[in-house]
Amino acid sequence: MNNQELLSRRDKALPRGAATALPVFVHKALGSEIWDVEGNHYVDFASGIAVNNTGNLHPKIVAAIESQLKQYAHIGFPVLSCEPFVRLCERLNDLAPIDDAKSTLFTTGAEAMENAVKVARFYKGRQGIITFTGSFHGRTQLALAMTGKVLPLRMGVTPSQAGIFQIPFPIPHHGTTEQDSLKALDHLFRATISPDQVAAIVIEPVQGEGGFYQASPVFLQTLRKICDEHGICLVVDEVQSGFGRTGKFFAIEHADVQPDLIAIGKAMGGGLPLSGLIGRSEIIDCPPPGFLGGTFAGNPLACAAANAVLDIIESERLLDRANQIGQTLQRFLIDLKKTEDVLPLGDIRGLGAMVAFEIVSERCGNTPDAEATKRVAAKAKGLGLLLLPCGYYGNTIRISAPLTISDDVLETGLSRLAGALKA
Ligand SMILES: Cc1ncc(COP(=O)(O)O)c(C=O)c1O
Repeated sequence: MNNQELLSRRDKALPRGAATALPVFVHKALGSEIWDVEGNHYVDFASGIAVNNTGNLHPKIVAAIESQLKQYAHIGFPVLSCEPFVRLCERLNDLAPIDDAKSTLFTTGAEAMENAVKVARFYKGRQGIITFTGSFHGRTQLALAMTGKVLPLRMGVTPSQAGIFQIPFPIPHHGTTEQDSLKALDHLFRATISPDQVAAIVIEPVQGEGGFYQASPVFLQTLRKICDEHGICLVVDEVQSGFGRTGKFFAIEHADVQPDLIAIGKAMGGGLPLSGLIGRSEIIDCPPPGFLGGTFAGNPLACAAANAVLDIIESERLLDRANQIGQTLQRFLIDLKKTEDVLPLGDIRGLGAMVAFEIVSERCGNTPDAEATKRVAAKAKGLGLLLLPCGYYGNTIRISAPLTISDDVLETGLSRLAGALKA
């Protein structure tokens, strides 16, 4: 088997919409390293899109899944309860920066977002939802309507869902300040929807697909104040930024803000599909029995894995490790940017291990170069490094290495990154 043969089988069998960023077929993945079917070795700076915070096949996760598998694999939480589900929710409630929290589980991030909106609308009896440009909340119709990026997500679909409005996410170095965003919100309230018709403002504290742009603590605190003033729920989408990625368990903790609802997913299942919604009791407890659920919601194997993920984050001090990795990455990128033999690098940013940089068309400028960014990801793949481009302007390379990555593998990844960025 080789990558090319498998790719042509893939192209015959799958629709083009089900695309893969890199033309690689995996044979084996362990920790933060991956081998393809031809034996090529890759350092994983993608983590399956911020899922493998605890690496691939962490022995504690494997053991937890094996042990659960010997008891039962599926019972259907709407039918029978299972202890690992409840234990996980208890632990999430303790970890969440929400006084008096309750939580429940689903399968995908999009589902968590759908339920966040359903709960906020039910609790408030209002329909309006405000989201941000550059946001990504999932591929289902409602989550897509909330998502602030046309290509390749909303293209040709233009999902129109009544009551969803977008305002600009602040990216000062691309010309949108926090004041601009707040002004747009003020205009929205004056011109389009009165705040007493808005159920929720939904924000990723650090945008994922949008380009790892951070909402500042002051901005998030201001949103909290606006929400309080108008009785609006503040919903944070931590599907990508949660579970230790930013050096705190939830990215919103950096802002010292209590949200009303937190959507989670990705890294929580340690590689198995699992998502959830944590909320202030008064809000999340409001809808009636049967309102929240799903056939596969909180699958027992995924819950067992997630409980192991929480153990690992604590026992291996992965929040500290995220900060160390982030510092190493940022130092490396800042030094690299100064050298003449690499492509022009623009903004370098990061919160914990959620680090990104932009590729621009001229040194000391900010003009995005999306084409060069795609070429860098392709070149990195050739050098044995998995990198994912992203961003509102398509010129961001994000680094989401597993938080369990060793210093040696990180070093190897960084030297391959330097090679991929050679001008
Ligand atoms: C912030 C954010 N929200 C929601 C989602 C959707 O998650 P899923 O693909 O599991 O539906 C994603 C996925 O990338 C995400 O990054």
